Amino acid sequence: MGNVTLGILKPDCVRKNIQGKVITKIQDAGFKILAMKQIRMTKQQAEGFYAVHKGRPFYEELTKFMSSGPCVPMVLQKDDAVAAFRKTIGATDPKDADPGTVRKEFADSKGENIVHGSDSDENAKVEIAYFFTNSSLIANQ
Ligand code: RTP
Ligand code: MG
Repeated sequence: MGNVTLGILKPDCVRKNIQGKVITKIQDAGFKILAMKQIRMTKQQAEGFYAVHKGRPFYEELTKFMSSGPCVPMVLQKDDAVAAFRKTIGATDPKDADPGTVRKEFADSKGENIVHGSDSDENAKVEIAYFFTNSSLIANQ
């Protein structure tokens, strides 16, 4: 199991101006931030990032949303990072998320759910490379 994952504070998080609250929750769960930046994805970049979901009914809405404003990708480090982070953020739909999770506390809907987390070590590697260079990560070790 790898010790890094990619998180993204989604555009709804930035619009609500609650990045600090969400980051505090992430840090309180024991994650170290190895890299972080605020960017705005083009529709095309969002489509590339979520290419695994191409063809799904929510793909258009999702990529429109993810390119609707700035977001904050971050590389997070902890033992068994992928699983630990998904536990910290909670289920995709905030209605199903456990109490105390990021999505339960802050998300409005299944579509606009505040935060992204990689779903496997393999995807974490690909997703980290989508936003960060190797040298920017090494500089933060
Ligand atoms: P994420 O990839 O963003 O961390 O979320 P996830 O693994 O919990 O959920 P996933 O199945 O990968 O779906 C990616 C994102 O697409 C949006 N979605 N909307 N309206 C819908 O039925 C629906 N289903 C998924 C959500 O923003 C979800 O986080
Ligand atoms: Mg996912």
